[in-house]
Amino acid sequence: MAGKEKLIVALDVPTLTEAQHLADELRGEVGMFKVGLELYSREGLGLLSWFSKESLPVFFDGKFHDIPNTVGAASAAVVSHGVKMFNVHAAGGAKMIGAAAEAAGNANGAKPILLAVTILTSMSQQVMNEEIGIAGQVDAQVKKLALLAQVAGADGVVASAEEAALIRQCCGKDFVIVTPGIRPSWAGHDDQKRVMTPKEAIANGADYIVVGRPIVKASDRKDAARRIVEELESSS
Ligand code: C5P
Repeated sequence: MAGKEKLIVALDVPTLTEAQHLADELRGEVGMFKVGLELYSREGLGLLSWFSKESLPVFFDGKFHDIPNTVGAASAAVVSHGVKMFNVHAAGGAKMIGAAAEAAGNANGAKPILLAVTILTSMSQQVMNEEIGIAGQVDAQVKKLALLAQVAGADGVVASAEEAALIRQCCGKDFVIVTPGIRPSWAGHDDQKRVMTPKEAIANGADYIVVGRPIVKASDRKDAARRIVEELESSS
């Protein structure tokens, strides 16, 4: 896969107009655009029509987690917009992941990539153990959920780049690994705590990286995207 294809830009802006502006500026420079909960909650699923009309590939980061019937129906709605990737929480269980996988399999066009979120990178060991009540190490839980997701029909996971090597080892070379929390050496960390550079993430086994603020807030966004792609090219 070319370096450009591995780069997903997070469209973390509040309006479709701003998202369109960003996408227009970066089309041809990056592989995919991530539409997350902020933009979706403000603009609704209809915003995906613009991306499909413009033939711009979208990762719909809705992180569904509900009963299997509801997740299946919501996934079918997302899939009908021709997204390239979408996701659910692995913690919803095999039946729920399976319902999303079935919706992906029923896509009219190319089958979208179904990802499962294991443990959010924002969740600490202490919160997982004491607030949520899941015992053990985060790593062990990530591995368990990645394997569950794979068996249940997911094509891959969203995970921290720190966990990518472990997931690659247990789920094999064809399992898709998408990693946020990426910071090139020249960018600030913002609120991300455990970051990796694009090169490190790929070396650890990631297939795709998600980058938001280092590109979105850059004074020259195209240049920022190009520098990241160059780094990705040099690591392949
Ligand atoms: O601006 P930044 O590069 O930190 O943006 C990262 C994107 O990836 C955001 O859209 C954020 O919601 C998402 N994300 C993350 N960590 C996760 C899951 C998703 O940063 N564990």
